[in-house]
Amino acid sequence: MAEASLPPAPRAGLLGSAIPPGKPGSGVAQKFPRSDRRDSWWVAPLSQAIGLAFLGAYATWAAFQGNHYAYTGEGRDYLSPFYSPLVNFGWWPLSPALLILWIPLGFRTTCYYYRKAYYRAFFADPAGCAVGELRRGYRGETAFPFILQNLHRYFMYLAAIFLIFLWADVVRGFIIGGRFGAGVGSFLLLANTTLLTLYTFSCHSLRHLVGGNVDCFSCAVAGGPRLKTWSWVSVLNEHHMGWAWLSLATVCSADFYVRMCSMNLIRDLRLF
Ligand code: FES
Repeated sequence: MAEASLPPAPRAGLLGSAIPPGKPGSGVAQKFPRSDRRDSWWVAPLSQAIGLAFLGAYATWAAFQGNHYAYTGEGRDYLSPFYSPLVNFGWWPLSPALLILWIPLGFRTTCYYYRKAYYRAFFADPAGCAVGELRRGYRGETAFPFILQNLHRYFMYLAAIFLIFLWADVVRGFIIGGRFGAGVGSFLLLANTTLLTLYTFSCHSLRHLVGGNVDCFSCAVAGGPRLKTWSWVSVLNEHHMGWAWLSLATVCSADFYVRMCSMNLIRDLRLF
């Protein structure tokens, strides 16, 4: 076919879309919050905004309290996960949680899943796929402050160390009056640390580290074990969003439970 008889190629819109800017379906070139989508695309960012605002507000409040973070009554030894590891310095006038929480906070804030969630929920950047944006330019995460998101891998290393302390808290939670035993709080701490472990080990950065950066496992050093580890992490990684929400909910719930016990507002039920 002669070239002259071909229909003219569509002009590329923003982000390489074949739909010209401003036309139906072009998404980014439309005004916020216009979209040609027919589904309830706003439900996800709205529920994320409510969930993150509620749990974030509780976590901030609890971290600044500086009291009722441990319950040692009736032979128990429960410690709120917001205060673990417990570092109490005489010279530090504020809550001990503020000395350590920058690590889990940095880990969560730079998490690939949470980035997607809060960019959509709070910045509407974008609020959803093919939804008009507030911002016209796009520089990605190449400039301050969003360039700091690249620190995620280093927060992941530190967060993994925190798990050691949290598992030690679980062991202490299953000792009542010097013997093996358990109350409701013991299982709450166990559930929380299990979910935090699943959240950490399903991290995208970890997946890349153990095998995502390998092109040929049979050619790489320790390729077999790396392939196995990468496969396990990949299975966990598929549910990273679920682990992120569940662990955020349990970490707040565990703090709340310990706080209520410590304030004698509820009594920890002994199970065995
Ligand atoms: S990507 Fe979410 S914790 Fe690493």
